[in-house]
Amino acid sequence: MSDPEITLNKIEVSILKNLDLANPVGFKDLIKKTSLGQDQIRRGVEWLKYKELINIKEIVNSFYKLDSNGIISVSKGIPERRLINSILNGKKNASEVLRDKTIDSSEINIAIAKAKSNGWIILETNGELKIITNGEPIRSDEEVLLNRIKGSKVSENDLSTTDLTTLKKLSKRPKFIKEIEEKILLYTITQKGLTILKESQTIPKEPRLTVDLLSTGNWKNVSFSKLDVQAPVPLSYPGKRHPLTELIDEIRCAFLGLGFTEIEGDLVQSSFWNFDALFTPQDHAAREMQDTFYVQNYVETENPDPIIIKNVSNSHKLGWNYDWKIEDSQRSVLRTHTTPVTLKYLSESRPEEAKIFTIGRVFRNEKVSYKHLVEFNQIEGIITGKDVTLRDLMGIQKEFYSKLGIKKIKFWPTFFPYTEPSLQSMIFNENLEKWVELFGMGIFRPEVTRPLNIPNPVLAWGGGIERIAMLRYGLNDVRDLYTNNLSWLRNSTRCL
Ligand code: PHE
Repeated sequence: MSDPEITLNKIEVSILKNLDLANPVGFKDLIKKTSLGQDQIRRGVEWLKYKELINIKEIVNSFYKLDSNGIISVSKGIPERRLINSILNGKKNASEVLRDKTIDSSEINIAIAKAKSNGWIILETNGELKIITNGEPIRSDEEVLLNRIKGSKVSENDLSTTDLTTLKKLSKRPKFIKEIEEKILLYTITQKGLTILKESQTIPKEPRLTVDLLSTGNWKNVSFSKLDVQAPVPLSYPGKRHPLTELIDEIRCAFLGLGFTEIEGDLVQSSFWNFDALFTPQDHAAREMQDTFYVQNYVETENPDPIIIKNVSNSHKLGWNYDWKIEDSQRSVLRTHTTPVTLKYLSESRPEEAKIFTIGRVFRNEKVSYKHLVEFNQIEGIITGKDVTLRDLMGIQKEFYSKLGIKKIKFWPTFFPYTEPSLQSMIFNENLEKWVELFGMGIFRPEVTRPLNIPNPVLAWGGGIERIAMLRYGLNDVRDLYTNNLSWLRNSTRCL
């Protein structure tokens, strides 16, 4: 009995029709017989094998081809033939032959030995070795076989016993013959295949439902060919956004979802907002040339309010006890973090309450390595309000990380000139099996908020997005995000 579930498509029918129970048909013959394309046959036989309608047998055939010295021997003559020709041209011994340059020193010994065993020459020694020949000999069996193989390949089945002995001789000579193996697939139809094929031809199948079949009600009387909805299809790679851009958007959505508002700021900032207003002393290491990119000849159009400048200057004098210089605060920098954006906003709006975030590029004059880039993206957020506490800061971190699927986190005390207390969050990188720092955070010091007349405490945090991307995509080198490795870009998935 046949399986009522098994249906055949056109390709399968055409393959089955050309197969036999006993005599195997090869892949190439199947192409000829069916006039189908290689890929159609390849796919068709896979389907048929899966349905147990055909058997596939793989055999390995050995073939022989000419190798480099074999090819030279066919075009320029086998070494012993070149020896004979040289002697016929008047050369009398090995050194004279070698001077002739038609034969190489590595070939001369074998050429003499072969010519001698072929009976083409006689060696005479009277003080000096002399080679004598009596005319041009007919082709040796080795020459004949080389000529037969040239430009094609032969299998052992094509060769007689004498040919096989000659082949053995040729195979012993370096790089005359090479053996190649070819896998051949042979197909036969199974009994089940025969039955299914027969049935498929007796019951006519409608390929698809038509308006006509529907309106006449004839659909009840016909049987439809089934569609295999699980059949493999070719992979296609449509254009898509870069994984890092996807992540940035995901982070943006996470903050919006938590009730935050996004703000934006300039890439070039004055040192005043990037450092001074953040209570970072003018001799701080981060401000040195090796950490910060200073921008030459950039004219700041919006200078801070003179009262604010005065307040910040006093805050530095009082807190750090040094002579604060306005010129240093006027130098423009490629922002080293996104905190000046937040701070400018706070200084301009002085909100009683706010939940704000910003995302953008920052720049650090660092050596590029597996964990450092000179440009990267930061995410930064603040919450200000009358009663906000450090607990709220840690709570919101947990909330945010869990939205990104990060559950294993801890907090560690650290230092920033502008926050007190200061913390850093650490998350567990399963890939590297260690804790890695993620965000810096803290409560802005009064030395930061008071000069700007910010009314309430501000919880602030920020850090690199590429760090999160490395975790998300299991990368051990941050540069991989920017090398445009096509296979990684194609295969990276949005959801894990
Ligand atoms: N600006 C810090 C950095 O770039 C992060 C930070 C933001 C720290 C806000 C404390 C408060 O690493």
